[in-house]
Amino acid sequence: MPMPMLWWGVFPYVCLGSIIFGSMYRYAYYPMSWTAKSSQILEKHWLRIGNMLFHWGLLFVVIGHIMGLLVPVQWYHWFGVSDELYHLMAMVLGGLFGLVTMVGLTILILRRIFNDRVRVNSSKSDYVADILLWIVLGLGEAMTTIWANINGPYDYRLTVGPWVRSLFILQPRVDLMVHVPLLLQIHTVASFVLFGVAPFTRLIHMYSAPIFYITRAPIQYRSRARYTRRLRRQNS
Ligand code: HEM
Repeated sequence: MPMPMLWWGVFPYVCLGSIIFGSMYRYAYYPMSWTAKSSQILEKHWLRIGNMLFHWGLLFVVIGHIMGLLVPVQWYHWFGVSDELYHLMAMVLGGLFGLVTMVGLTILILRRIFNDRVRVNSSKSDYVADILLWIVLGLGEAMTTIWANINGPYDYRLTVGPWVRSLFILQPRVDLMVHVPLLLQIHTVASFVLFGVAPFTRLIHMYSAPIFYITRAPIQYRSRARYTRRLRRQNS
């Protein structure tokens, strides 16, 4: 099979399959683990700062991706948005929110490594998720800021955007991705790896869009040690 077909025609659907079947497996066998497993009880201060920066930054990065990849370039022309204005806004706003997201994630990673209580409660999959996220964010940010400043803006609305849309109708336009800058190709492949492994990590919560977290009752934590001691007393 030719490499472009493999990367741009097959690989995205393999990752999509992993999302669907991985999520079904987890829901069927580990339903109670379908969560981001809060670590707020272990450390609050840096979590609040890192979490806020990461999630607010990411929200705007996602909005930017929807505008750049799902909205056809012709729509911008109809509304009188010139290519120069679009790229300037994408570089300034995308670069800024990408940076905010990365700072937030870096704080969360350092907290995981250097806070003893958080570290002992972290699993390998937490590190996999954090590192993958950092790589994806770093590559995207490098493309938007460094690459674009050296080579001039790259109009992904003519290539990556239509390719992403072609995936939805199950007719992948592999040809569109062949001449995309390597950095952006790696960013895209890394993103699909991230989507594919997410069902096996704490990132599972992104597929259930936890918007009801805002209104739900707070989670109550009880000491397991005291509970098991009481159980042992009752049983003896
Ligand atoms: C299908 C998956 C994805 C595609 C096709 C994609 C594509 C792109 C494109 C075209 C850019 C703009 C590059 C430029 O300015 O020249 C970009 C930038 C960026 N991407 Fe992605 N991306 C994907 C997923 C992700 C994910 C999952 C994340 C974060 C977790 C992410 C984070 C970023 C960041 C931080 C930037 C730079 C700032 C910005 O423009 O928002 N991307 N990406």
